[in-house]
Amino acid sequence: MATGRPFELVVFGASGFTGQYVVQEVARVAAEDELRGSLRWAVAGRNREKLQAVLEKAATKLGKAELKSEVGIILCDVSDPSSLANMAKQTAIVLNCVGPYRFFGEPVVKACVENGASCVDISGEPQFLEGMYLNYNDKAAEKGVYIVGSCGFDSIPADMGVLYTRNNLKGTLTAVESFLTVKSGPEGASIHDGTWKSAIYGLADQDNLKKLRRQIGHKPLPVIGAKLKRRGAVFYSNELKQYSIPFMGSDASVVKRTQHYLHTHLQETPVQYAAYTTVGGIGSVIKLMFAGLLFLMLVKFSFGRKLLIKYPEFFSGGYFTKEGPTEKQMEGSSFEMTFFGEGYITGQDPEQGKPDVKICTQVRGPEAGYVATPIAMVQAAVALLKDKSSLPKKFDGS
Ligand SMILES: NC(=O)c1ccc[n+]([C@@H]2O[C@H](COP(=O)([O-])OP(=O)(O)OC[C@H]3O[C@@H](n4cnc5c(N)ncnc54)[C@H](OP(=O)(O)O)[C@@H]3O)[C@@H](O)[C@H]2O)c1
Repeated sequence: MATGRPFELVVFGASGFTGQYVVQEVARVAAEDELRGSLRWAVAGRNREKLQAVLEKAATKLGKAELKSEVGIILCDVSDPSSLANMAKQTAIVLNCVGPYRFFGEPVVKACVENGASCVDISGEPQFLEGMYLNYNDKAAEKGVYIVGSCGFDSIPADMGVLYTRNNLKGTLTAVESFLTVKSGPEGASIHDGTWKSAIYGLADQDNLKKLRRQIGHKPLPVIGAKLKRRGAVFYSNELKQYSIPFMGSDASVVKRTQHYLHTHLQETPVQYAAYTTVGGIGSVIKLMFAGLLFLMLVKFSFGRKLLIKYPEFFSGGYFTKEGPTEKQMEGSSFEMTFFGEGYITGQDPEQGKPDVKICTQVRGPEAGYVATPIAMVQAAVALLKDKSSLPKKFDGS
């Protein structure tokens, strides 16, 4: 565990809505038997008072007054490269919670790679994920550090869910569709507008994603078994008895990346994958269509984006707010991801005939954005610290 640096972990963007919950999760994990006394960590951001307030809130909530004196504070601004280098030099891993990543993420990755720190983020932005791979994969491998994107609710449940499905099929899994259902309690649910901003800028820049993928130049994965059928923009899922739409986050990018790795390096059969989210009955579909069309129209123009960013509640029907969810809303919320897989029973050649075995699995978890995401992010960092010897040394993704 000893890393030869002052800290094992630094939470950057600790003063943000998500960052504060990541801080609380690190504090919880650091107190567990296995890590107690050995995990030195710090919070980082551009405002000392805000960082102190986050530590005070965590200390009160968790009943751990020692957090205020034991956790380090590093002042750091994305627009100041020397402050980023200073942060990266002091830690083995940066947990980066400063988004939208398309604007703020790259200088952090660069500073980490140049100064020998690994970096874990929770971006759900495929362009950022692919861009960082294109620009920093080789440099990170040379330095022996890991730049691990999308380690929050986007896209750990999807990636782990596909692997879990593969491990539980008695045969060869060749295709999976996942359906996300978000549940809320009596207080309803909401998402902080930090995620809203990331979605707006991400959707405005869809074409760039195709360009990036062309530049990366990965060979398409071979299709083994029956080709996964294409679904429409809205369709009815007979299994879940709800209408569904494609999921716009980074799940498909992340799962494809993992499948590339497993196929190229471990000669595993690649699994075709598509991600969807359920939206409910026909009434919800009609509401979503109007809201979605307006959103897609506005997102194309700078004036429209300004409007969307200024009035998140209005344009999202109250779902995205500047305040974020209340603790009560978070307690009452949860997610469920259902995976429908198909493949070929042991002994049957996937290159011949139709799939002859099906499987349904589920990943369930607490509130997605600010409970599940901090858990996933912090566990990714703990895995980097504890399991370094079992991690791949270089990922060429070809
Ligand atoms: N993958 C997932 O499932 C998931 C879940 C939750 C969130 N997210 C993502 O996490 C990101 C953050 O969301 P959020 O709602 O927490 O946003 P937020 O509340 O606006 O937090 C942004 C953080 O970035 C910091 N920051 C902004 N500009 C900076 C700069 N120049 N230098 C240093 N720090 C700077 C802010 O610091 P100040 O306090 O000083 O302004 C704040 O700490 C978004 O990209 C969101 O999409 C992803």
